[in-house]
Amino acid sequence: MKKMSLSISLACALGCGSATTPPTSRDHGHHHAHDEHDDHGSREGNADGHHHDFSDVARYSARFDAPQREAWQRPDEVVAAMNIQPTMTVADIGAGTGYFLSRLSRAASEGQVLALDVEPAMVAHMQTRAAEESLGNIEAREIAPDDPGLAAGSIDRVLIVNTWHHIGAREAYAAKLREALKPGGEVMIVDFNHDAPFGPPAHARIPPEQVIAELSAGGLVATAITESLPHQYIVIARSGLALRNERWTSERITTSGQPDAATLARAQQAGVTQVISLRRESEPGFAEEQATAAELGLQFVSIPVDDVAGLTRENATALHEALSAPGQALVHCGSGNRAGALLALRAFLFQSASVEDAVDAGRRAGLTRLSGEVTEILTGW
Ligand SMILES: C[S@@+](CC[C@H](N)C(=O)[O-])C[C@H]1O[C@@H](n2cnc3c(N)ncnc32)[C@H](O)[C@@H]1O
Repeated sequence: MKKMSLSISLACALGCGSATTPPTSRDHGHHHAHDEHDDHGSREGNADGHHHDFSDVARYSARFDAPQREAWQRPDEVVAAMNIQPTMTVADIGAGTGYFLSRLSRAASEGQVLALDVEPAMVAHMQTRAAEESLGNIEAREIAPDDPGLAAGSIDRVLIVNTWHHIGAREAYAAKLREALKPGGEVMIVDFNHDAPFGPPAHARIPPEQVIAELSAGGLVATAITESLPHQYIVIARSGLALRNERWTSERITTSGQPDAATLARAQQAGVTQVISLRRESEPGFAEEQATAAELGLQFVSIPVDDVAGLTRENATALHEALSAPGQALVHCGSGNRAGALLALRAFLFQSASVEDAVDAGRRAGLTRLSGEVTEILTGW
């Protein structure tokens, strides 16, 4: 491990070590004291990243690969949520002892998994582990702390577990991740909730809203997804398509204002298969968009929403049915406001969301001006 970070690193020895396994009571008392007294490193909003020494592989392997981790880390759920296809190229950044590698290797069985870490001892350990476990599609590599070293447009999926808080200058790092993604590529960040009973020291924990903002600053569109992890959140991100008021929901639905021909083409390249327009035929650009969608081989669905009068059960049902089709959807109106509003209605009617949760989901999908009306409508239902 780099000498310069060693003094700082010793400080969070178990704070970060316990980042992946609940400490024993003895561990906790002992190292908690170190966290409090010796951490000269990062502070809240740590743009410099939370430095820590991970060179003692045997010690971290005992923690990171402890059988009891599965109960709270839920690695099968995490990897399933990455939606990896067999031929994909996957990068695990800050891969550590290689906890996720066997699952990633199986998911990308005809592709490749890059196991990346700044700590040479971890990289050597993963090389040995991959050989011992006959994981033929793993390549372990040492990377720089500020650069994942990935070729432009080469990666389908990036996984970063319990590591984002160790990275400094994260907005610039996010931009590098964006560069590395193929069209349709995605980044997944898993890290500790503020109130998790173990994990990095409180000041080093980064809330999901901040992760989303850091990824957005790097040109990605990010969202927290629904999961069942008891102590952690999952944020996913993909390249922004430069759509007006672009959002990406936890169901991987893109919402936006009116797309033009170029943005529709980008959406199609990124994997969108269906465009759902909530505009009326009389609104500007409707016919042109329909023609462009046909040229691009996109399915075009029209659900005209006439402002508040169009926020009906029928329209929410039509949207829900359209979204039940396989593939990725772009739902848009003129500004994104009606898209968020109708998705709020759908969440209430079909996803058992409370009025409050439905309106929140709508806001995350672009609902702004119509929030009051949506709340009123749902309260009446
Ligand atoms: C808490 S461990 C997590 C390991 C693994 N992801 C897991 O979930 O078991 C953090 C890992 O990130 C690595 N790391 C720290 N800073 C990094 C950076 N800037 N870029 C890549 N890896 C980093 C460390 O060496 C360590 O192996």
